[in-house]
Amino acid sequence: MSREITITIDDKKIRTVEGKILLWVALANDIYIPHLCAIEGKDLPEASCRLCFVEIEGKNKPVTSCTQPVYDGMVVRTRTAKVDRLVKTAFELLLSDHRLGCASCPKNRNCELQRIAKERKLKLRHTRFKYLGRETAVDDSPDSFSFDPSRCVLCGQCIWADHEKAKVGAIGFARRGLGRTVATFNYESLKDSPCTECGLCVEACPVGALSFKKNT
Ligand code: SF4
Ligand code: SF4
Ligand code: FES
Repeated sequence: MSREITITIDDKKIRTVEGKILLWVALANDIYIPHLCAIEGKDLPEASCRLCFVEIEGKNKPVTSCTQPVYDGMVVRTRTAKVDRLVKTAFELLLSDHRLGCASCPKNRNCELQRIAKERKLKLRHTRFKYLGRETAVDDSPDSFSFDPSRCVLCGQCIWADHEKAKVGAIGFARRGLGRTVATFNYESLKDSPCTECGLCVEACPVGALSFKKNT
């Protein structure tokens, strides 16, 4: 049976249910924690973006809030020197493989990277880590949307939507390390894949990698 508990996040007392995931509890209570890869309802979080760090009283290092269940009496800080340092580094690393250019991006003003930068006062430009500028090709083959891997942050939201909501399975992660990308089976174009153009993956994309075409 679910037990009601009280936790504290940034001095705010919150009534919640034991075992819920801290990130979702914070967001539901208007406490913003940066996050890209977390997916509500997914049993095993990827915890790959490393943006959702917080500190918890009694723990000697920051933890990712998307993997942390809540417990009674938990005291959480979303902003500490350690947390801010980790989030800044994760953000800068992420940008090093992200082709910036917001003015010409379909997600301009509605982009999760822009939101993180604004909330955490981080620079939305390449700073400490040089831009890798990997050569990637835009897949413009679907009638209703296009995929630009150079804007992809590898959050996995589109794959979850494709597999778990649309139940199609047209896309997945391919390759490892720096070459990691979202791709169709056999790297065929989306048009030649089982994609039904339902658009759920496009809606799930938090940045300008998947975007609807203008006439859609
Ligand atoms: S995805 Fe976001 S941060 Fe990147 S270019 Fe587009 S609007 Fe800018
Ligand atoms: S295409 Fe969008 S939703 Fe899919 S992994 Fe890249 S950034 Fe995430
Ligand atoms: S949201 Fe927690 S690591 Fe990405």
